[in-house]
Amino acid sequence: MQIKILVVDDELSLCKTLEIILKKEGYDVVTTQLGAHALSLIYEQDFHVIFTDLNLPDASGLDIITEAKKRIPCPQVILITAFASIETAVDAIKRGAYDYLTKPLSPDKVRVTTRRAIEKLTLTEQIDHLRQEVSQCFGFDNMVGKSQCMYELRKTILYAAKSTGSVVITGESGTGKELVARAIHYNSNRKDNPFVPVNCAAISKDLIESELFGYTKGAFTGALRDKVGFIELSGGGSLFLDEIGETAPDFQVKLLRVIQNGEFNRVGEASFKNVDTRFIAATNKDLKKAITEGSFREDLFYRLHVISIHLPPLRERREDIPLLAVYFLNKYLQKYPDKEIIDIAPETVEALTNYDYPGNVRELENAIEHALIFGYGDHITVDVLPATIYGASRSGREAGNAVRSIPNSGTIKPMKIAKYEFERDLITSALIRSEGNISKAARLLDIHRQNLQLKIKEFNIDVDSLK
Ligand SMILES: Nc1ncnc2c1ncn2[C@@H]1O[C@H](COP(=O)(O)OP(=O)(O)OP(=O)(O)O)[C@@H](O)[C@H]1O
Ligand SMILES: [Mg+2]
Repeated sequence: MQIKILVVDDELSLCKTLEIILKKEGYDVVTTQLGAHALSLIYEQDFHVIFTDLNLPDASGLDIITEAKKRIPCPQVILITAFASIETAVDAIKRGAYDYLTKPLSPDKVRVTTRRAIEKLTLTEQIDHLRQEVSQCFGFDNMVGKSQCMYELRKTILYAAKSTGSVVITGESGTGKELVARAIHYNSNRKDNPFVPVNCAAISKDLIESELFGYTKGAFTGALRDKVGFIELSGGGSLFLDEIGETAPDFQVKLLRVIQNGEFNRVGEASFKNVDTRFIAATNKDLKKAITEGSFREDLFYRLHVISIHLPPLRERREDIPLLAVYFLNKYLQKYPDKEIIDIAPETVEALTNYDYPGNVRELENAIEHALIFGYGDHITVDVLPATIYGASRSGREAGNAVRSIPNSGTIKPMKIAKYEFERDLITSALIRSEGNISKAARLLDIHRQNLQLKIKEFNIDVDSLK
């Protein structure tokens, strides 16, 4: 890792001295005599260490600390102070500075302090990473199911985790594609390096290349500083390309080159960088059909499909439903500890098992949370299930829709539920009005298209059925 250091001091000679000492150590050094310039540099570039004078003509070293603290990863700030102001320096350390040096500077002290600051930085990063990993804990404990296909799936995940080939995971929305991708990564020997998920559908076609490959400052209007792309961030780990079917063919060509050669270049940079990452892609589209329609490149298709995993819809593995329902009940009881519910009534389990779940496991998960919010007593009863499932359980899907459309007049619902239902119905109406055209519906609702896409997913709205 190339270490980048910023030196801020109104004394030019001090800037020069520090620059010489630090450059000799092999670090990249940027200097400035103005506080305001330093603040914009910190905003634009990623520094590992910042040396700053406590008293600058147009700012205070404390402002620099505050700005540095906002950055991720957070640079280590070393204050330079005259002997007289040690008290303030101590105060600055309390506010998050790493250390302070008194003038005149001793080159040895500068070298040692810088080295220690960098060590601390790397250590902090490692600890953050470990913490994240432990909290995510993507073993198999959070992958519930006793059906034959879940059993096969666990075996395939272990096999995929041992190999290095690209993986494509297919399945309807909410079947657990991302869960499987994480399980592959966290069971592989790449688990100590990052798992980087990228939702290709959520990034606009113009931005996807720069987001994925990164860019250099000035590569295009708005490129205020160098930016590391997702591919580079996933170095040594895995890159999860969700909804790969939504990408454009010209981008697919570039992606193919990275997968084939393990090299890419940042937008605005001529030279190539090498990257060692594991590609895991997911889609709910039929890619073979997309190939015949010309929206997906055949060469990329074969390159990615070293290992293919298909997740069947929940309605084709109904034996998993009761188990999943109980799993989600326990999960959400932790979120709503005041609830006295301890179990799911048998007729509720039956209603849950008979329902078809167009939104698959995610819909079941949402249904259990919904029931828990609405529920009372010690069992989840059928009537507190979402109207779609409750209705379907009473007299088939026809009746289900009827029940849903009966206004709940007079009933006072918790605000959260009422808002949820209002928002979902409003979005559905907008989508019906726009005949399933998401951009049009977003304009009607005056929200961003990407926001609307997230909402559609959250509410499990089947847009195709509204076209
Ligand atoms: N077998 C399972 N056991 C426990 N939880 C599951 C299982 N399958 C899916 N889930 C949960 O269901 C939710 C949806 O899963 P996930 O996000 O992985 O689906 P997806 O296929 O990626 O959906 P989409 O296509 O909409 O992105 C998540 O909260 C996930 O933890
Ligand atoms: Mg997903």
